[in-house]
Amino acid sequence: MLTKTSMKTHGCGEITKNEVGQEVTIAGWVSAVRDLGGIIFVEVRDRSGLFQLVSDPQKNPEVYDVFQKLRDEFVIKATGKVTIRPEETYNSKLPTGEIEIYPTSLEILSTAQVLPFPLNDDDVKEDIRLKYRYLDIRQEKVLNNLKLRHEIVTTIRNYLNNQKFLEVETPILIKTTPEGARDYLVPSRVHPGKFFALPQSPQIFKQLLMVGGIERYYQIAKCFRDEDLRADRQPEFTQVDMEMSFVEQQDIMDMVEGLLREVFKLVGYTTPDKLPVITYKEAMDKYGSDRPDLRFGLELFDIADILMESNFEIIKDTLKAGGIVRAIKIPGIAGYSRKELDDLTKLAISFGAKALANIIYLEDGTAKSPVLKFLTEEQAEAIKQRAGAQAGDIIFFVADKPKVTYDVMGRFRLYFGEKLGLINPDAHSLLWVVDFPMFEYSEEDQRYVSVHHPFTMPNLEDIDKMETDPANCRSIAYDIVYNGTELGGGSVRIHSPEIQERVFKALGLSEEEIQEKFEFMINAFKYGTPPHAGLALGLDRVVALLAKTPSIRDVIAFPKNSNAKCLMTDAPAVASETQLRELHLRLTTKIN
Ligand code: AMO
Ligand code: AMP
Repeated sequence: MLTKTSMKTHGCGEITKNEVGQEVTIAGWVSAVRDLGGIIFVEVRDRSGLFQLVSDPQKNPEVYDVFQKLRDEFVIKATGKVTIRPEETYNSKLPTGEIEIYPTSLEILSTAQVLPFPLNDDDVKEDIRLKYRYLDIRQEKVLNNLKLRHEIVTTIRNYLNNQKFLEVETPILIKTTPEGARDYLVPSRVHPGKFFALPQSPQIFKQLLMVGGIERYYQIAKCFRDEDLRADRQPEFTQVDMEMSFVEQQDIMDMVEGLLREVFKLVGYTTPDKLPVITYKEAMDKYGSDRPDLRFGLELFDIADILMESNFEIIKDTLKAGGIVRAIKIPGIAGYSRKELDDLTKLAISFGAKALANIIYLEDGTAKSPVLKFLTEEQAEAIKQRAGAQAGDIIFFVADKPKVTYDVMGRFRLYFGEKLGLINPDAHSLLWVVDFPMFEYSEEDQRYVSVHHPFTMPNLEDIDKMETDPANCRSIAYDIVYNGTELGGGSVRIHSPEIQERVFKALGLSEEEIQEKFEFMINAFKYGTPPHAGLALGLDRVVALLAKTPSIRDVIAFPKNSNAKCLMTDAPAVASETQLRELHLRLTTKIN
């Protein structure tokens, strides 16, 4: 038996009718006690399932005495012969619902206080579940998520091992791997004033493994990023990190598609032979997002050409200043009240828009809108034609800077997709987004920063734009997207020191900064570097999506809360004076 130990012969859920007549010993937690006056029924639970014990006060008075002491979550051990239950007491909900034992011996291994929250109750607040996560893990839902995670990791390892990948561990105390987030720093006792960073990813090391001739590497890798948290972001998370040598983008895509095919099979979804591929530009233009959810339509469309002919001066000014406009047609909502429309404007403003324009197509065939006064009849008709609008529909549009317009309209699209029930929960949208831009301008840093990371190869067609037109330089970077979430991302890497230096310079790094931060990497590339490429999947996201659970916290054994804190251990915690002194640190903020 799977869970046989010196203390038990079977797991509770593993006993079947085949064992009827056989003596078994089980051990686990008391999951329910029912005292029917004289006869006590107890459900025992272990990882494999539930099993029913029944007391027999006449035959076994000592055992009955123990039965009377049992309370929820006591840990017990029971021995007895498996018997068939009377047919009228069969429990069809339990795999072991037709059998039970009348224990001949019953032992309390550990008592339990009343739990701080009831198990398997959906209304318990997450904070209390996280504080007592070890109890939370006793719940079926959490246990099932951890089981699924294990199956997914096993499948991934098997697949990649069969493809001749080597699993290699890379260090946690490192210099830095730039992935765009803040580093977690670890002060060094031995080297006063110096710090290790925790890896935001194993990026640098996996590339150096390629220089080292490993050719196919993977790792189930812990990564650390100090960034704003969301349902799908944790400060500490796990990547399925991989890298291959002598490959191009298509090789990585084929490998990852093969891997995901096996992973998705675990939940009964057969992925298509070839996944759809769309460019970053198309994704932004049509869906306002670089991780579009294609389970529903509501595509965005451009009406700039029509508006530029109109008298809509505010919008024309926005367009002339480099802005863009995108519109969306929402079918069948022309009956919305004034208040509902005002609320939509507020929503768009909360998403970052300055204003939201609408054109309502009434049932009588006329159109109603505060913007019609700026349009000729032909222009209004041209917009209607482009939208394919019919009576009952509303068109909304926003004109703003590209980033704002895409973001607002992309979120508006998702909002209506959900609100109108257009997203079939059983549908799957798994696709590649390719041709990401190499750089984006950071208002905060007042310079261009990498969209992926600085080791990403520029598209050779655009390489000279690095210096002249960085905003329009494409990279050879790709993301894999599932149901509107970025599951993973990767790129072809730069393997020439000259191109690498040009990229660092385009990022505004001075010669000294390049030397200080990346000298070892540039040097490594001087000793014979194979062309290489890779990708990392967010394992927590993969598991959460397949488990159909909204937060990655649900699939991590001991997650941090949304405030980057472990509620169970109360980490992070203060350090003692002695520790600080040893680390050559003095706090500038008074902590009480
Ligand atoms: P990237 O930064 O895109 O690429 O990360 C890869 C994937 O990791 C997941 N992820 C996260 N999951 C949970 N919490 C977070 N804070 C978090 N941040 C990222 C996402 C994401 O798609 N070194 C490159 C990969 C490469 O180029 O090979 C990298 O880390 O699912
Ligand atoms: P008015 O009522 O004359 O101010 O008309 C302006 C209309 O244009 C309002 O419906 C605004 O919501 C809309 N509008 C103004 N600026 C924008 C913009 N940048 N994007 C979308 N709609 C806009």
